[in-house]
Amino acid sequence: MSKLIELKSVSVDYESGRALDNVSLSIYRDDFIGVIGPNGGGKTTLIKTILGSVDYSGEIEYFEEFSNNKSKFIGYLPQINNFDRTFPISVKDVVLSGMMSRKTIFSQYSKSDKSRADELLSMVGVEALSNKAIGELSGGELQRVLLCRALISDPKLLILDEPANFVDNKFEKELYAILRTLNKKIAIIMVSHDVVMITSVVKNIVCVNKNVHRHRSNSISNEQLKRYNCPIQSMSSADMSLITMDKY
Ligand SMILES: Nc1ncnc2c1ncn2[C@@H]1O[C@H](COP(=O)(O)OP(=O)(O)O)[C@@H](O)[C@H]1O
Ligand SMILES: [Mg+2]
Repeated sequence: MSKLIELKSVSVDYESGRALDNVSLSIYRDDFIGVIGPNGGGKTTLIKTILGSVDYSGEIEYFEEFSNNKSKFIGYLPQINNFDRTFPISVKDVVLSGMMSRKTIFSQYSKSDKSRADELLSMVGVEALSNKAIGELSGGELQRVLLCRALISDPKLLILDEPANFVDNKFEKELYAILRTLNKKIAIIMVSHDVVMITSVVKNIVCVNKNVHRHRSNSISNEQLKRYNCPIQSMSSADMSLITMDKY
């Protein structure tokens, strides 16, 4: 499979200090990467670096379609606490705002954009909420709507930052089923703090704690986490026995 994005010796410094140190990572077209790591380890910073929204040193190469405008080709579901829910905007307009990068400020959404928005909302089972204000939604409903927003531009890469926060178990399972289907056509990067849960969904794990290690499997042991200097909630053997490893 060919590469979509390659980070070469990328570092990110905030005023508070270094968040990512000398990161080299390739992302391929068929990837389904689970990003794990401790709180404050730099997971969101890694995502923002790929999106081009933080300053970095080093080099990031975007292949083929990415060369002109990366926001067109990357769908992004931000960590939910970054999203301003008090903004008075309807569900449908939130979904359509995912097209912004392709529009000038004066252009209108086309009929086909609007019917694509309806299609996506019914795919995730919230078509009835279309005209509600986003402030009225539950956490799970909001994540469904933000997923539609991330998908409306038909991205080649979908990035989700902790999508299972604040959602019900039912939606978490539905979400993973949707992602598996999407991954037949597009690459996916999903940040999660639940290493046990993502093991049954992703193909590869990337550990982020200032440094970044790509682990070539969807299961990871406590010993490996230690070796990658990636302290996260450890897995008990009881948890491990619940994991099905044969999804791919
Ligand atoms: N905008 C910012 N300005 C200054 N420091 C930041 C900023 N964003 C994140 N940080 C710091 O960078 C480190 C990595 O944060 P983050 O990427 O959000 O980690 P994670 O998503 O793994 O919890 C943390 O120490 C955090 O406090
Ligand atoms: Mg984060």
